[in-house]
Amino acid sequence: MKELYVPKEVVIRHVLQETEDSFIFRLPFDKGYMPGQFMQVSLPLIGEVPISICSYRDDALELLIRNVGSVTSKLCRLRAHDKLYLRGPFGNYYPMEKLTGNSLILIGGGSGVAPLRSIVEYVCKNRRDYKEVFIFFGFRSPYDILFRKELERWKRNFKTRVTVDKPDEKWQGDVGVVTRLVESSGLDNRDKAVMICGPPIMVKFVGESLARMGFNNDQIFVSLERHMKCGVGKCGHCMIGDKLVCKDGPIFQYSEALKLRDQ
Ligand SMILES: Cc1cc2nc3c(=O)[nH]c(=O)nc-3n(C[C@H](O)[C@H](O)[C@H](O)COP(=O)(O)OP(=O)(O)OC[C@H]3O[C@@H](n4cnc5c(N)ncnc54)[C@H](O)[C@@H]3O)c2cc1C
Ligand code: FES
Repeated sequence: MKELYVPKEVVIRHVLQETEDSFIFRLPFDKGYMPGQFMQVSLPLIGEVPISICSYRDDALELLIRNVGSVTSKLCRLRAHDKLYLRGPFGNYYPMEKLTGNSLILIGGGSGVAPLRSIVEYVCKNRRDYKEVFIFFGFRSPYDILFRKELERWKRNFKTRVTVDKPDEKWQGDVGVVTRLVESSGLDNRDKAVMICGPPIMVKFVGESLARMGFNNDQIFVSLERHMKCGVGKCGHCMIGDKLVCKDGPIFQYSEALKLRDQ
């Protein structure tokens, strides 16, 4: 019980700068976790923030942290051998076992691609359990592309497309919102599960596109973000409707997420 609330000190193994404002931290961790779960990451006298786990490994976990404010800016200054503090893993996770035998469609925007990377790593370890994997990621510009190296690797094994809103002169890939990639894929809903993570407006438009393509809301999973404090279902800070995002979520079937939005 105590360990739910008491952060554990860890020494950072490795830091990789992904974009101007986003960094991947590799941390020692042997407690086990599943794609979709998050950690509470803190620095003494600074604060604590929820961050999705973006890996699936036995002896380590990776976090992609984007510098957006007071705590994340301090975290993003840390380097290998510095210390930070962790609680977790918390929250529910994508129902990977129930989804065996399906193809997976992963749709992400901006730093919302973080938990989807964890799914790809999980699938790579359990490749025979799933059919095809489709990856559709959208970013503001080529400079904002996250997991660039992984995307090159994934392209060899999975149907992977990346789009940007604002291309530069060197960009040769897709341009426009990620919804367009989804619509132009021509995918049907047979034996498929869809995981969407990104800004709420992106989730809304992708959800509408999928509905037009014949997908039903029970085969779509979304990750919800709310301001959090305790992370363990005690303080009520992350409540939406009658659900606590830190405990009942952050992963919800889209049908349920829509009901919560309307409450
Ligand atoms: C379950 C979950 C998973 C997350 N995963 C990641 C991740 O993998 N990588 C990552 O970089 N960030 C992630 N976030 C968002 C991250 O927690 C916030 O960016 C962080 O809390 C901001 O803290 P700050 O003190 O740096 O910024 P602040 O100074 O507190 O705020 C800066 C801006 O960010 C907004 N903000 C603060 N907290 C949140 C929040 N929880 N959700 C949405 N907006 C917020 C504020 O309204 C403000 O506009 C996740 C959030 C949740 C709830
Ligand atoms: S953050 Fe405290 S109940 Fe969810």
